[in-house]
Amino acid sequence: MLVSPSLLSADFGNLKRDIEMINGSEADMLHIDVMDGVFVPNISFGFPVMKYIQKVSKKPLDVHLMIVEPQKFVSEVRDCGAEIMNVHYETCVHLNRTVQQIKDAGMKAGVTLNPATPVCMLRDIVADLDLVLLMSVNPGFGGQKFIPGTLRKLEELRRLIKETGSGAVIEIDGGVNMETGRLLKDGGADILVAGNYIFSSPDPLAAIHGLKQL
Ligand code: DX5
Ligand code: ZN
Repeated sequence: MLVSPSLLSADFGNLKRDIEMINGSEADMLHIDVMDGVFVPNISFGFPVMKYIQKVSKKPLDVHLMIVEPQKFVSEVRDCGAEIMNVHYETCVHLNRTVQQIKDAGMKAGVTLNPATPVCMLRDIVADLDLVLLMSVNPGFGGQKFIPGTLRKLEELRRLIKETGSGAVIEIDGGVNMETGRLLKDGGADILVAGNYIFSSPDPLAAIHGLKQL
């Protein structure tokens, strides 16, 4: 299983220490949650902080933009060293164009679905995507409870990817722990994001190891 720890649950007073902990862990990437207080009812951090994260992190950056009009910031996200740029389906009026812009900028393109957005909305774009991110909580906060309906969506997404010949991998974000992680593994998830489970653990390296072993 690929694991992408969410920095949202890190100790922002010790950001360098926490990023270095991830550097020394088995994590495959680092998940960066950007919130604007408009698309989601919370604000996290922006480009100056991401620039700093880029300087310290040795893991590929998996950037999850919970902002309106993400197409305005493709070059800024690229300049912060993002390997993957995830935009929400719900925020993109011209999703096909935005996906092409992300790829033209040299990044992998990911599209994220809120819990209430059906998988079928991706039918005509999924073949162009490198990644689909399914939200298993309503975006905006760490430490929420996993929404079980995500498992049915995961199954449907697997089917859609197969039918369309898409090369997209599936990432799941929200409420991931060992229990939900196992269900997601069985359902065919490729990447698990975990924030609270890792950072509230007395041994974050062991928590990452556990998820890797799923
Ligand atoms: C929620 C964020 C998540 C969040 C996950 O809006 O997109 O990445 O950090 O946190 P946990 O793993 O605590 O649910
Ligand atoms: Zn996220």
